[in-house]
Amino acid sequence: KRHLISAADLTRDDALLVLDTAEEMARVADRPIKKLPTLRGRTVVNLFFEDSTRTRISFEAAAKRLSADVINFSAKGSSVSKGESLKDTALTLEAMGADAVVIRHHASGAPHRLATSGWINGSVVNAGDGTHEHPTQALLDAFTMRRHLAGAPDGGPTHHRGPGDGTGRDLAGRRITIVGDVLHSRVARSNVLLLNTLGAEVTLVAPPTLLPIGVETWPCEVSYGLDPVLAKTDAVMMLRVQSERMNAAFFPTEREYARRYGLDGARMAALPPHAIVMHPGPMNRGMEITAEVADSGRCTVVEQVANGVSVRMAVLYLLLGGNEPAVTTTHSSPT
Ligand code: CP
Repeated sequence: KRHLISAADLTRDDALLVLDTAEEMARVADRPIKKLPTLRGRTVVNLFFEDSTRTRISFEAAAKRLSADVINFSAKGSSVSKGESLKDTALTLEAMGADAVVIRHHASGAPHRLATSGWINGSVVNAGDGTHEHPTQALLDAFTMRRHLAGAPDGGPTHHRGPGDGTGRDLAGRRITIVGDVLHSRVARSNVLLLNTLGAEVTLVAPPTLLPIGVETWPCEVSYGLDPVLAKTDAVMMLRVQSERMNAAFFPTEREYARRYGLDGARMAALPPHAIVMHPGPMNRGMEITAEVADSGRCTVVEQVANGVSVRMAVLYLLLGGNEPAVTTTHSSPT
């Protein structure tokens, strides 16, 4: 595949290839010399029209660890503020020889437009578009879940299948609960799509006002209450309340939201002992998650960031590093 625009672009085999390749990349990151020569001479452009800490930095780290040249473009301080269009910005990048463009944009659909426009020849990777999708976030979340839950050896729920039966590569039967501002969340949509592809059972928990129209067609369950689902959860993912996209009509008060949908110590104690707490970041401490939970040993938020570098290395490598058979045999080449 040339582009990664949506989690729906990935078949189960595609997703497992990314996750397995990311495991190889993570092993490289543990070595004293973390760099691979794989993308030497290739250029990756980070094209960010919206703010980012984790995604932008981890794509930069990923590209550099693969020896690519990296150009960081931020709309703030660029000619976009003089009114330059996405098309003219893309043509400028193409003239500089971009092999891959990693784009974050406030408009849902901007990465798709870039990939299908003919303005650039390189691969396009969606790093978050409006309220639509954030597929590499879903991949790093699945990678994190797989490390903790796939083939759960001891103490895991009995319905989990084990690594010895060849099924531990996916998340079949794992119960994932995604909580909060689904309406504005590209992370939720990409996670629901990818987790469904990987066989997990997903429940969305949100007040009715923070669920998108058409959510009943998504491949998941929906609940308006958090407490009833906690005991049947292997991973709970708290979503950031996106106040910058919010309208006062969406929910009563921050205090009421935290009381009904926030994860605090008491709710964390209601989770099964093996369950993990996830958050894509940035967190609103005191709103969707308390500091006690965010700083607890069960919260994987920092681990998710580290895993993001390995997953984004895998994505860039698979898109730019050569043809597919070469990728599957490169298990030896990242040495
Ligand atoms: N999770 C995430 O996308 O974080 P940033 O907005 O900091 O990139």
